[in-house]
Amino acid sequence: MNIGILASGSGSNFEQIVLSKIKNANIKILICNNKNAFVIERAKKYNIDYSIIEHNRYNSRKDFENEIVKKLQEYNVELVILAGFMRVLTSNFLNKFPKKVINIHPTLLPSFPGINSVEQVLEHGVKITGVTVHFVDNGVDTGPIIAQRSIIIDENDNLESLSQKIHKVEHELYPEVINLAVNNKLKIIGRKVNILK
Ligand code: GRF
Repeated sequence: MNIGILASGSGSNFEQIVLSKIKNANIKILICNNKNAFVIERAKKYNIDYSIIEHNRYNSRKDFENEIVKKLQEYNVELVILAGFMRVLTSNFLNKFPKKVINIHPTLLPSFPGINSVEQVLEHGVKITGVTVHFVDNGVDTGPIIAQRSIIIDENDNLESLSQKIHKVEHELYPEVINLAVNNKLKIIGRKVNILK
């Protein structure tokens, strides 16, 4: 299955996905909306094609999304993986890849959706947080949940230490879920996702 990864930042998840060598998955292209993002260096390192599509160069969200769609179609992408992609995608985009856009979020959804969510987790003083991988729908981090892992917050955890714990879990969980998606093991039934044996 041909995969396109969309990312805006450091790209540690991107790199782990590449390194995991998921069976039947071809990582065809990275699309990045931020020309200074470190993820671009990672794509170069592993010889993965990349395209920089900067949202602020487009008059509308629709034009920006259409440019991404064009690029993904050029590479015959069948599954879209969001790995720290900091733009909301509308139904204009999602309709082009129905049930084929997956995101990872650094909290246990539906708690703490949106941006700066790890900061909010710490501010709120919750004792357990985690990571969620979900299908993307029209809302912000509201789509059907595929998998979650929990993380215990210690009293002395800060943004840095908790972010490290989160990334460690993400780097294991995301390739596992992508493997399931690529090998057609995920079935969406309403809001629920069943994992087929
Ligand atoms: C991850 O924590 C992910 O949950 C969130 O963005 C972050 C991306 O990290 N959506 P990286 O760029 O993969 O290191």
